[in-house]
Amino acid sequence: MDISSYKPKGRIEHKHLLNLLDYSSSDIYEILHLAASLKSAFRRGKKHELLKGKTLAMIFSKSSTRTRVSFEMGMHQLGGHSLFLSSNDIQLGRGETIEDTARVLSRYGIDGVMIRTFKQSDVDMLAQYGTFSVINGLTDDFHPCQALADIFTLWETYGRLEGVKLSYFGDGNNMAHSLMLAGAKTGMKVCVCSPKGFEPNPDIVAAAKKIGDVTVTNSVEEAAKDADALYTDVFFSMGQAKDPAKEKALMPYQVNGDVLALANKNAVFMHCLPAHRGEEVTVDVIDSSRSIIFEEAENRLHAQKAVMCLLMGKK
Ligand code: CP
Ligand code: NVA
Repeated sequence: MDISSYKPKGRIEHKHLLNLLDYSSSDIYEILHLAASLKSAFRRGKKHELLKGKTLAMIFSKSSTRTRVSFEMGMHQLGGHSLFLSSNDIQLGRGETIEDTARVLSRYGIDGVMIRTFKQSDVDMLAQYGTFSVINGLTDDFHPCQALADIFTLWETYGRLEGVKLSYFGDGNNMAHSLMLAGAKTGMKVCVCSPKGFEPNPDIVAAAKKIGDVTVTNSVEEAAKDADALYTDVFFSMGQAKDPAKEKALMPYQVNGDVLALANKNAVFMHCLPAHRGEEVTVDVIDSSRSIIFEEAENRLHAQKAVMCLLMGKK
């Protein structure tokens, strides 16, 4: 079933958002439909305090602008409260275990924990040992909140997701992984185009291919052909050291005017941000009318509010 014919029920069975692998198409459609109605309430200035009295703790072991502010503002708009916990300031940064952190936070009545960290296993363990909902705010392997906001943005742009071709160019990283999963589950065509040696994780590719229409290629022409959206991300993700060999390999995968010209006539440009102009994308593309980067950034707020309501709200 595609998103347009889906009738939302206002609930999903999940307690956590860890990596999207265990989410069905219907779960994702629930999130996107609720995001649309929360966005409309936000735009109309209509109160929507669906998480009154709830608290979200936000653990950050990596930097953030969008994730931090959109979760914090999201909780505020939903009538709840948020706690910013930089791992530099809490004992986790000095070696306290995830298990102990999870058990302690559970004693204080926290309803949800958003965590941005390195290892996916830390996110999974937090969910295993805590009593609260856990939301993955980015790991080395996945960035599900960004992927949800991105497909929501594409739904708004095209009025459908079924058959929309999203081509991702560059490092086969956390963004590539989450876009493959989110796209495959919602009937999109996802093509990941990376240089040899920087392809996405083969296990995640295999899992995504089982779900839907996912291809991986080294050919920019193949990826750009018939694309409705061109997506890219930084050469070096947080926690990765700069490497001239990697930069050299990724440069031919830059999204520039020539690549955009190979795509569909009205293809849009997407980026999770932050962007490095002149590296993974050129100024004439990212700052053009085809670029929908700030819609994506705004939609982090609406998509995450929907996720929080469905995970932490009344069941
Ligand atoms: N796209 C994204 O997650 O941005 P931040 O790193 O600023 O949170
Ligand atoms: N791949 C990037 C995404 C940032 C939002 C990183 O992990 O740094």
